[in-house]
Amino acid sequence: MRRLPKPIPREKLLPLLHDVPEGVFTPVFTQACEVVDLFVGDCLAHLVHELALGGFSGSPEDLAHQRGYSAHKTPMLHLLLDCLELYGLARCDDKTYEVALPAGHEPLPQRYHHWVGVAPTAEPALAVQRLGAEVFPRVLSGELSGEEALFSLAHLDLWFSYFSNANVHYAPTNSLAALALSRSVGKHARILELGGGGGSAAEAAFASLLATDQAPALYVFTEVHPAFLRRGGRLVRQLAPPSCRLEIRPYDINLTPEEQGLSPQEFDAVFAVNVLHLAAHLVEALTQLRRLLVPGGALVLGELIRPCFSAPVHLELPFALLQSYQQVQLAPRVRTRPGFLCLQGWQNALHEAGFDEVHVLPAALQECFAHYPGFYCAALVAR
Ligand SMILES: C[S@@+](CC[C@H](N)C(=O)[O-])C[C@H]1O[C@@H](n2cnc3c(N)ncnc32)[C@H](O)[C@@H]1O
Repeated sequence: MRRLPKPIPREKLLPLLHDVPEGVFTPVFTQACEVVDLFVGDCLAHLVHELALGGFSGSPEDLAHQRGYSAHKTPMLHLLLDCLELYGLARCDDKTYEVALPAGHEPLPQRYHHWVGVAPTAEPALAVQRLGAEVFPRVLSGELSGEEALFSLAHLDLWFSYFSNANVHYAPTNSLAALALSRSVGKHARILELGGGGGSAAEAAFASLLATDQAPALYVFTEVHPAFLRRGGRLVRQLAPPSCRLEIRPYDINLTPEEQGLSPQEFDAVFAVNVLHLAAHLVEALTQLRRLLVPGGALVLGELIRPCFSAPVHLELPFALLQSYQQVQLAPRVRTRPGFLCLQGWQNALHEAGFDEVHVLPAALQECFAHYPGFYCAALVAR
């Protein structure tokens, strides 16, 4: 049975990761994952207490109905109850959850400072989990939207430190995607980046491309959120060598390329890290992106991958507050719950969008789940 938190058996995982350079999944990364997993348990205990969930019996829909929460919030409750089960704080039998009565717990800020002391490099990831747990009840009751609660000006710096290569908990997805990108393009490539945020994926991409003497001829850095576009654009201007033509522009993956001024077959690669799982209609969005590629061009994605279609990803709790999370279209072969996809879901979605070839790095990703049932970073390359 899947259970967290548990130690991550590096000695079993490393032999499965022979195609990943040594510096990507470091011991510090593993420690940060273990500490964040433990802190998510504290966040869950906090939520059981704050929402008086101890002793609840029923489905997520029953819970929404009993408490008067909007039906739109059911995906949040579904993830919360699944995570309680994952952490042994609830049992689930045929869609009925029984939440255990809470044991005493220390206040969340105290647990947060304890874990930051144990693993200072995990601070941004711990802070994001803490923020999510602290605002969860207010978003559930409709007092605040998830977007207001997470992305207010007061929290922007947290997001820049979270989506950063200095954040050891986040950086490996960028490293894998950047490596896959530099292996997928030749010299003088024309590259489009989507959802570039504060520029951390671009930073990894330029490092990998320049290290292999593959400075791109064109790099189009895009993002939907204006504050992220400004910040990311500033960073990308410093990264691009003079030979690379740089464009910085807004782009929404839920709209067509044509209505945003991009034409078919303009790019050798389309690159996005932790963005495409946010598409409201994923297969449609991927189909549009395929049309932007020249024949033989590559779509290169960095993504966190869930173990299987039904498994909850505990790290997703803060992101479940967002309307964009709650409103994605589900499809049996692609995703049966919002948020990150499983590997099979990605393969099905990319094939349905017309890509013939799909490769994943690390290639033995699916085998890793038998050893640790958390999340995995991966790069997907589709042509
Ligand atoms: C997890 S962050 C990743 C940021 C960046 N790729 C990085 O790795 O540093 C996801 C990004 O996708 C952007 N995003 C969300 N919805 C989007 C949409 N519909 N179109 C384009 N970007 C979107 C967010 O604003 C955010 O910057």
